[in-house]
Amino acid sequence: MEKGSLLYEGKAKRVYATEDPALLIVSYKDDATAFNGLKRGTIEGKGVINNRMSNALMRYLAKEGIPTHYVKELNDRDTLVKKVKIVPLEVIVRNMAAGSFAKNYGVEEGTAFDSPTIEFSYKNDALGDPLLNEYHALALGLAAPEEIEEIKTLSFRTNELLKAFWLARGVTLVDFKLEFGRLPDGSIILADEISPDTCRLWDSETGKKLDKDRFRRDLGGVEEAYREIMGRLEDRTEADGAAADENR
Ligand code: TMP
Repeated sequence: MEKGSLLYEGKAKRVYATEDPALLIVSYKDDATAFNGLKRGTIEGKGVINNRMSNALMRYLAKEGIPTHYVKELNDRDTLVKKVKIVPLEVIVRNMAAGSFAKNYGVEEGTAFDSPTIEFSYKNDALGDPLLNEYHALALGLAAPEEIEEIKTLSFRTNELLKAFWLARGVTLVDFKLEFGRLPDGSIILADEISPDTCRLWDSETGKKLDKDRFRRDLGGVEEAYREIMGRLEDRTEADGAAADENR
């Protein structure tokens, strides 16, 4: 499948048309931004890692029953995905206080919750992605009530699956952001990416941050952290694959 015209360029990805109107090609860049584009930089090799990690996670989620936009990895940076209309909500699931939650509510980072929590932001760069509740989303016509219910169900299920996936690799899933899209038949599927750009991933033993917070907070070792988290994913996933082969 060849790239057609460039449809959209975001902060970290480009989106191209293909000869099939139902499919798009997403191409991951090394560009990084934070604080709604105020901070800019490059994380060398990030595009390759985010592409491959997001695809591996989407394949795992799909196998476990989560519908996703993933179709096929074309090369290190490019992936074929189903074309959707993105629901303009950023869905954030948290297992522990960190980032804006820790700051807004005066809770120490790393404080675990008894059960996961969820929040929505209005995906709108001009407004700075403001936090909103479900009733605000309905008032703004961003999604239908059934869609919001479906998004919450899929998000919490995704959290359980990703938490277990990372736990097996010695990593704590602190929080993450998801985006959903609508297919032409109206069904809701997981879209966008799941990567160290969109998740907080801490080493379970040491608490070392293995995600984009190293860039956001100028902690150093950004590229190394991306490589380390990708290594954790690949080592264990290969071991799982070998074990599955032996059991056949
Ligand atoms: P926050 O604590 O800054 O609200 O971030 C929560 C999670 O969402 C964290 O894992 C990082 C991710 N995130 C994005 O993917 N995109 C964004 O624009 C923001 C602000 C956060």
